[in-house]
Amino acid sequence: MDGTQLPELKTALPGPNSQAWVSRLANTECPAITARRARRESETGVPQDPIVWAEAKGANVKDVDGNVFVDLTGAFAVSGPGHRQDAVVEALQSQSSRLIHAMGDVYPSDIKIEFCERLAQVTPAGLNKSILGMSGADAITAALKTAAIYTGKPGVIAFTGGYHGLSYGALSVTAYRNSFREPFLQQLNPHVRFVPYPDPYRPPFGMEQARDSHSDEDVRDAVLAHIRSMLSHPASGAEGIGAIIVEPIQGRGGEVVPPEGFLAGLREICDAHGLVLIFDEIFTGFGRTGALFACEHEGVTPDILCLGKAMGGGVPLSAAVGTDEVMDGWGNSSGESIHTSTFLGNPLSCAMGLAAINEIVEGGWSEHANSFGATMRDDLDALRDHPNVGDIRGRGMMIGIDLVVDKTTREPNGALALSLMAKMRNLGFLILPSGSHGNVVALSPPFGLTMPQWEAGLNALKSCMTE
Ligand SMILES: Cc1ncc(COP(=O)(O)O)c(C=O)c1O
Repeated sequence: MDGTQLPELKTALPGPNSQAWVSRLANTECPAITARRARRESETGVPQDPIVWAEAKGANVKDVDGNVFVDLTGAFAVSGPGHRQDAVVEALQSQSSRLIHAMGDVYPSDIKIEFCERLAQVTPAGLNKSILGMSGADAITAALKTAAIYTGKPGVIAFTGGYHGLSYGALSVTAYRNSFREPFLQQLNPHVRFVPYPDPYRPPFGMEQARDSHSDEDVRDAVLAHIRSMLSHPASGAEGIGAIIVEPIQGRGGEVVPPEGFLAGLREICDAHGLVLIFDEIFTGFGRTGALFACEHEGVTPDILCLGKAMGGGVPLSAAVGTDEVMDGWGNSSGESIHTSTFLGNPLSCAMGLAAINEIVEGGWSEHANSFGATMRDDLDALRDHPNVGDIRGRGMMIGIDLVVDKTTREPNGALALSLMAKMRNLGFLILPSGSHGNVVALSPPFGLTMPQWEAGLNALKSCMTE
């Protein structure tokens, strides 16, 4: 498989080998996770059984039955330029012949130090100091701890629809779906205040009812005004707030692009109130939106930038990168580190991460994602008149097609998105639903998706939508 193939389906999907593997999985994996395979078949009328991956290269994935797919998801937007990039594989091989594991904060490895230096170089000016982790949720936890220790305040403002991960630290600021939080509410930080994200398509504060009389800027200003009034009202309990955490473009929340000026508004509020501004660019970072970091589109720099996904080139690696000032909030080391882990800055992850960053930066992949993504959105315009397509939005190669029951009510149509996922897979294309109602077809393909691959995917999408 060279990573430029169009779908090649050898079996009716999912094939017998995938089915056998999935049955084995059901014996040993926690049922709540495995149950995903039976997800809402009754609702969508389409079997939701998964395929089991065996190989991937570029924008292609091969399953255990030998079927080749085109991956329009980037495997949760991790793949960056593509699956199994040559430079990343070489870095893995070379590092594994030398050092696989070191002693995190006690005896770090040379490659971890090189990685942190490169991160400081490529992130916006002023962001110099990192805390590494393995998952996105690790980076969020590190950022929240940094803000708490720097400000001495436990409170955080976060946004509805925001997805920051599911560890206890990250879940406390995640408002993607109530069902994710409810069983654990007693164990979550009680000092988090959620405010609406300025979603231009589904605006908050009753603006939805009189949509046509409000501009995107009105939506932005209403949200910013709401935060300002929360922070200044003595009875709001907001004196305990030390940080604002936000995704510059919401990912799992439905590829929601806020109106221009929103990030600048948050920066201004944080400066005025002495709050730490945390940008979660775990999804949007490293080229996905057509700039190396989405905050660069607005020229706004946070106090802490959270990174993950594409940064590791496919291995688990994340970072919270902060200014000297906020990171100095931790104080000087006085013995044992109060925030560390066994695999902190694992040498294999850092070697692959370094190669992945270099590939994205030096290969001009952000610029490519910018122009290729614009072409994708132009092509998708052909779907705008479809009665169930409410909105098509995004930036760079992060695109959402918002499916609705009807265009007037804008009621989300999650069942349609889920059935499209299965139908597209049966034609050889992998897509994912996103959004709090699961009604957004999310496209975040590897940047190296070829034009024939995209055109074939687009045609498949059009034919599934007209079926
Ligand atoms: C914006 C954002 N933040 C954080 C996370 C959590 O990352 P992880 O699943 O690696 O913990 C995700 C995952 O999708 C994400 O999209």
